[in-house]
Amino acid sequence: MAIPYLEYFGLSEKPFGLTPDSHFYYESNTHREATEHLRFFLLQKEGFACIYGDVGTGKTVLSRLFLDSLDKNTYNTALILNPIMGDKEFLQAVLTELGIDYDNNSSKKDMFSRLEGFLLEEHKKGKETIIVIDEAQLITDETFEFIRILSNLETDKEKILHIIFFGQQELIERLKQPHLRYLSQRISVIYRLKALNLNEVNHYITHRLLKAGSKGFVQFEDGALELIYETSKGYPRVINIICDRCLLYLYSKSERVVDRDAVRAVINDESMSTLVDTPKKTKKIYRYMPYLVAATIVLILIILSVFNIIPVHRFFNKIFAH
Ligand SMILES: Nc1ncnc2c1ncn2[C@@H]1O[C@H](COP(=O)(O)OP(=O)(O)OP(=O)(O)O)[C@@H](O)[C@H]1O
Ligand SMILES: [Mg+2]
Repeated sequence: MAIPYLEYFGLSEKPFGLTPDSHFYYESNTHREATEHLRFFLLQKEGFACIYGDVGTGKTVLSRLFLDSLDKNTYNTALILNPIMGDKEFLQAVLTELGIDYDNNSSKKDMFSRLEGFLLEEHKKGKETIIVIDEAQLITDETFEFIRILSNLETDKEKILHIIFFGQQELIERLKQPHLRYLSQRISVIYRLKALNLNEVNHYITHRLLKAGSKGFVQFEDGALELIYETSKGYPRVINIICDRCLLYLYSKSERVVDRDAVRAVINDESMSTLVDTPKKTKKIYRYMPYLVAATIVLILIILSVFNIIPVHRFFNKIFAH
């Protein structure tokens, strides 16, 4: 479907889509640190690596980008995007990803031997093999156990298979459970992806606009950026949702500058209520809180004085008499 505002803003593609497209990748501090941890993991050649974080922080986009960045002459890679499967299916998915032939009817043991043979052969050629598992919080206990067995594949000197988990916060909770401790104890590199700060939100938005071909027809004012940051809490997916709606809003009003009011109109729209926490309601209460407290104190003093419980008026009389 054609996107109405592209031509109006001089864009060649949608700048704030929801797919984890690595073309739009912006290297924030947290994404850079995560990548450095993964590079260190590859050098270390030990255990598992785990990158986790809240929903929409960029785990999938980072996993793809990281795999793409690896030299194909040095690394074989397998990316498992949806690990809700039993151990046999998981093994089949790994074989398929690595381009290893197998017969659907063959036993798990046969498939396992094929994988082991492949890994040893590749290792002899100087190639390492990496499996990246996204949405790792969804891995079943059975498959976790199988992954542990897979990770035991090694030569006399070193592991021949490296496994990286990307998952939501629950992954860590799951790994803390006693029956998965055998696995968590072998995680040698772990990193939590964080949200972007205000400055990064600003750069992130500009970066995505430029990647989408922007020639500067559309501008985000500082106040708008602050409100986007406040509402999204720095989570990239929510930033994208808000920014995309802002562009539509501007287009409908034949404007080109996103100001604070435009963002407020967008986030107050009913269709956004399930996606973002609107900060304005709580904010208003806080803004008027000092006046409310002062008015309450005055009211109490008046009541106490009228009923002569505490003769406040005498106190004031004394002060003014001096
Ligand atoms: N560093 C980044 N640079 C550019 N875009 C990003 C970045 N991080 C996240 N995004 C964008 O934010 C959206 C959500 O990213 P992604 O799907 O990777 O998040 P996630 O952490 O995998 O979410 P979930 O927990 O739901 O799986 C995508 O549109 C993605 O392109
Ligand atoms: Mg994801």
